[in-house]
Amino acid sequence: MTPHPDRRTRVIRVDSRAPATAAISDAAAVIRSGGLVAFPTETVYGLGANAFDEDAVQSIFSAKERDPSDPLIVHVASVHDLSRVASIVPPLAMLLFERFAPGPLTVVLPRAPGVAPSVSAGLATVAVRIPSHPVARGLIESAGVPVAAPSANRFMRTSATSAAHVLEDLDGRIDLVIDGGPADAGIESTVVSIEGDSVFVLREGALTREEIAAALPPGATIESVTASPAHGSPGMLGRHYAPRKPLTLVRATSPEGSARLAAEIARALAAGEIPGVLLLEEDEGSLAGLAPLLKARLGPQANLSVVASRLYAAMRELDRSHATVLFARALPAGGLGAAVNDRLNRAAARIIDRP
Ligand code: TXA
Ligand code: MG
Repeated sequence: MTPHPDRRTRVIRVDSRAPATAAISDAAAVIRSGGLVAFPTETVYGLGANAFDEDAVQSIFSAKERDPSDPLIVHVASVHDLSRVASIVPPLAMLLFERFAPGPLTVVLPRAPGVAPSVSAGLATVAVRIPSHPVARGLIESAGVPVAAPSANRFMRTSATSAAHVLEDLDGRIDLVIDGGPADAGIESTVVSIEGDSVFVLREGALTREEIAAALPPGATIESVTASPAHGSPGMLGRHYAPRKPLTLVRATSPEGSARLAAEIARALAAGEIPGVLLLEEDEGSLAGLAPLLKARLGPQANLSVVASRLYAAMRELDRSHATVLFARALPAGGLGAAVNDRLNRAAARIIDRP
């Protein structure tokens, strides 16, 4: 649907664990008739359309103002449906799906002919995911078609992790939002491609590299995408997932990182700015004397799943506040730290490396 000031987006609330059948059928009918439905997944909210309907897929790009060169992820209900969207599922891909599906794993596969071409932005491949969230699964099953769904945010902004975030970006531009409360992981799925015995990580995400590595059979390896430029992901733009206000990222972990962060914030205060910080519990002490300082709490860096789940909501909170400049500090690299650091790096307007 085309944006129109008088058009309002309909919102249906559901119980995220056991969504009412009537609500899901209602939303599935919108998908089948070519409409756009935002829905919760276990990672972030998705903006869904029938992946077989070229016009519906095109309207995802216009609603988000998304660059047509950035391909979408197609969501199916089970491994049995993979053949509807992918022409070949190599054994290593099947092994990963059997181990991690349903869940936050996306695999790039050769595209089947029925999938709308714009889903893949002109590539011969398609990214496929089997989500675990009961609302996402119910919607895909009830629609009876694969659902193309990028994150439900305006292009280049942070992903939406609640129905309120979806409306902030897309109210009046889409038909319906299913409000199932906050998304669980709060960070997108991990995107991989497969080449022979190698798994290439194209986008770090909610499924960690360590978990994937532990599931690989003998002889298979996990590689960074930089090892295979040919297998890069067109959507991995340098600056992405960004708040509207300029974010400075201090790329050193505590304790040096905390001191450096405090020094940068003190400098901004002296320059007359109102700083806002994505605050890790470990930095509370070093930032205590600085005022005025707006704080969006991420929780303890010792609990990375909490930090990941709050990251985008915290960026949006500071965007809505009267802070004029934003600050964050990088996390230790292991586990979910890789995905959070990746998003912070892409969100940052300015990066300060270890002194
Ligand atoms: O968790 C998620 O993955 C969420 C939920 C809604 O499932 N979706 C999501 O979609 O994050 P999106 O559109 O924001 O990110 C899709 C990214 C693209 O930017 C690109 O990096 C990669 O997935 N991708 C998609 N299709 C690809 C392809 N054919 N080849 C390589 N990379 C692809
Ligand atoms: Mg996105």
